[in-house]
Amino acid sequence: MKYAIIGSGEIGSALARAFARKNIEVAIANARGPKTLAGLAEELGPSVFPRSVQDACEAEIIFLSVPFTAHPDVAKQLKQWNDKIVVDTTSIRTNYFEEAYEQIK
Ligand SMILES: NC(=O)c1ccc[n+]([C@@H]2O[C@H](COP(=O)([O-])OP(=O)(O)OC[C@H]3O[C@@H](n4cnc5c(N)ncnc54)[C@H](OP(=O)(O)O)[C@@H]3O)[C@@H](O)[C@H]2O)c1
Repeated sequence: MKYAIIGSGEIGSALARAFARKNIEVAIANARGPKTLAGLAEELGPSVFPRSVQDACEAEIIFLSVPFTAHPDVAKQLKQWNDKIVVDTTSIRTNYFEEAYEQIK
């Protein structure tokens, strides 16, 4: 199984840390590109691989840890998502949903 984390903020980096502790290989991507993840990868060790969002989306299990409003950008990276397992950490609140949806329409 190949794992990836999209988003390297509070949640994404905490997930990467958890993978690294168990020495499980994981790709990590953010909006600014893999070069900006060199420091985190160096800190966490050889099981954490900075990747572009598109490359990270090749994984079979993807942890989505971006702001909710960014999920359409991530979705566009692949033509089809069949057979992918997406673990969605975005915590959209119901009273926030309409406002957020207006932003991404
Ligand atoms: N923090 C919490 O306590 C908490 C708790 C529960 C749920 N959540 C949810 O978990 C998600 C992540 O939260 P967070 O606190 O980790 O957020 P964060 O610290 O703001 O990090 C967001 C990450 O998403 C990346 N990103 C934004 N747009 C992107 C795009 N179009 N493509 C790829 N990456 C993109 C950012 O990239 P850059 O670094 O390049 O800007 C950043 O690494 C959010 O949906 C939040 O609501 C957070």
